[in-house]
Amino acid sequence: MNSEDIKFNETFKVAIENHNNKRFDSAEETYYKLLNLKPNNPQINFNLGTLLAQQKKFDLAKKYLLKASDLSPNDPKINTNLANLYFETGDINKSISYLDKVIELKPKFAQAYLNKGIILNNIGKFSEAAGMFEKTIELEPNNSNFYNIIGSTYIELGDLKKAIINLRKSLNINSKNLNAINSLVKIFKTTQLSNISKKNIEELTKLFLFLYKKNLINHDDLFNNAKILLPVQDKNNNLENLLNKDLKLIENSLVNKIISSELFLLMLQKSIFRDAFFEKFIYKIRKEILFFIEKSQKNKLSNFINFIISLAEQSFLNEYILFQSKEELSIVKKLENVIIKSKKIDELEISILACYYPLYKSFKIIEKLKNYKSNNNLFNDLIKMQIEEPLKEVEIKKSIKSIGKISDDISIKVKEQYEENPYPRWRYSTRIPTTNFLSLLNYDIRPNKFISGNKFNNPKILIAGCGTGKQLNNILARENSNVVAFDLSLSSLAYAKRKIDEVGSKKIEFIHGDILQLNKLNKKFDIIECMGVLHHMENPVKGLNILKNLLEPDGVLKLGLYSEIARKHIIELRQYTKDRNFKNNIFDIRNFREIIKNHENQILRKVLISNDFYSTSNVRDLIFHVQEHRFTIPQISQILQDNNLEFLGFTFPEIKKKYSRSFLDDKKNISLENWHKFESENPDSFRAMYQFWVKRKNND
Ligand SMILES: C[S@@+](CC[C@H](N)C(=O)[O-])C[C@H]1O[C@@H](n2cnc3c(N)ncnc32)[C@H](O)[C@@H]1O
Repeated sequence: MNSEDIKFNETFKVAIENHNNKRFDSAEETYYKLLNLKPNNPQINFNLGTLLAQQKKFDLAKKYLLKASDLSPNDPKINTNLANLYFETGDINKSISYLDKVIELKPKFAQAYLNKGIILNNIGKFSEAAGMFEKTIELEPNNSNFYNIIGSTYIELGDLKKAIINLRKSLNINSKNLNAINSLVKIFKTTQLSNISKKNIEELTKLFLFLYKKNLINHDDLFNNAKILLPVQDKNNNLENLLNKDLKLIENSLVNKIISSELFLLMLQKSIFRDAFFEKFIYKIRKEILFFIEKSQKNKLSNFINFIISLAEQSFLNEYILFQSKEELSIVKKLENVIIKSKKIDELEISILACYYPLYKSFKIIEKLKNYKSNNNLFNDLIKMQIEEPLKEVEIKKSIKSIGKISDDISIKVKEQYEENPYPRWRYSTRIPTTNFLSLLNYDIRPNKFISGNKFNNPKILIAGCGTGKQLNNILARENSNVVAFDLSLSSLAYAKRKIDEVGSKKIEFIHGDILQLNKLNKKFDIIECMGVLHHMENPVKGLNILKNLLEPDGVLKLGLYSEIARKHIIELRQYTKDRNFKNNIFDIRNFREIIKNHENQILRKVLISNDFYSTSNVRDLIFHVQEHRFTIPQISQILQDNNLEFLGFTFPEIKKKYSRSFLDDKKNISLENWHKFESENPDSFRAMYQFWVKRKNND
């Protein structure tokens, strides 16, 4: 090798290093220089093409990859990257033909089958995709990701049994595989398991224990399936019968078994119990426990301390929504005095008190527990939840910047509600791997596709009305984003910021104010999300117009709006509360719920199956809100037209699948006229609001 060759090779090495370390500009410049010297070097053409494709400069990338392929037609790497490029630019057939060539050249190269499977998945050929993924597993049986991908494909195919088997295999190899965990949560969130054999109950219980112990998922999504794994009946007893009898639950062996079960305790700590039957159970047993204290029979409770702490955590999560009788309240008052006066710290008594109100509400109890450390970690967790975290939020509030003055009458009232009950209270949320926003958007609006110059490589995002930040986890998953999280309620923002600080993200700026004042930000955004907010403004269209004007020309906006049709029963409930003069406060909400739970009117009782019936902020939001507008699809269509906005698609994949079967001609699922027909025939479709994306029209 002569000295020039040596220099050439060294420069090439440096360029590759820069490329691998994502110093793209420098790598690109060097590749060009090297190509000037050796234009027919396949490797440099390949590297440059690959780098350009990574930066989404597809036309240029194609030029260099095709050149590389001409120079070295049988190189599997070049064919693979060409396949990827054609896939990304939408030429599926070419992409598949390059992959077939790779498979022919290198039949044991799992990645080629994987990529082909991913493409087939994307075009809805799930069975063929599954075949490709089975092949990858045959070639690399210890690759956790392959089981996970095939698991997701079986979800699409509706074969949940196979999906769960593969996802568990993925977790057996790598218990931290986030995609596998998320796919399992997705299954349990959207499907109700039934007719489970005894053996399967044992296996599923193990799986649920595993999931409940992870703090990177939203455990509310597990609740509906976890509850059917609880041992609610044995040879002698049935919990339902026990609840209807006037006896001491805590002394019953079946009840004992339930409240000592690890799964039940974890559920209490992490999922809001959204179930009228279990609510009754919890209510009765909490009262019984309180009465044991009243009758100085504390010793009978010592075995149940962890259950009682878990119940206190559940009470905090549901914001003390369960009914509290006068009798209970007077015992609680006495208990509070005993605790405050005593020199000792009695963990049992404090935990019982925490089942009735949050500990941070009493200054004296804060003082008592401020520096206390228990030997029981669960008790420490309770103090963290009910004292440390709320106090942290008080501090965070002081650091949040405000813009403008909140002077609109409705905004002032709405703010008051969310200051008292930030919406929604949540403990953990499902963490999603980061991805480029464009693919996330296209996944959300599929089968439609967003076509524009905006590649969202460094998107500026506004979350207008972020509440307590539950939706921010999704936002964190957007690659290279800069986020402004905005809300009327300082308490909600402080809650959100505390949760985001826990994750350690620095890319979100929290700002307090009214959407009506958002112009004062003097900023434009590529993405704006406004979920469940505009319908609580006095004039939602005015709010929408403000948001639209903050959008970059190629930007997109996601909206969540109440449906008039889906909320028929809620409208009746709202009327019911007005007619009987129920006020928007916790006492009236508790009384109202007791009446509805036992009401004979089935339409009113329909709310019992709603997730939002089981915590205070949710019920206030659902039924007692100071301001609510609802929309029909034709109204939304008109509003979009008036504001020069183009509808890109609803987000719910299951509903779209059903819609597609009835409206075969609407290939993109975007005809609002058809959607209105569909909703009229399927009135519960948008129970969880209309959720959809729009963009500014090109001529705007
Ligand atoms: C139902 S919550 C939705 C929270 C969040 N978007 C979510 O989906 O979890 C509505 C939120 O909008 C906020 N909000 C309502 N009107 C607003 C306004 N005019 N300006 C800013 N925020 C507002 C409330 O404070 C509240 O946090």
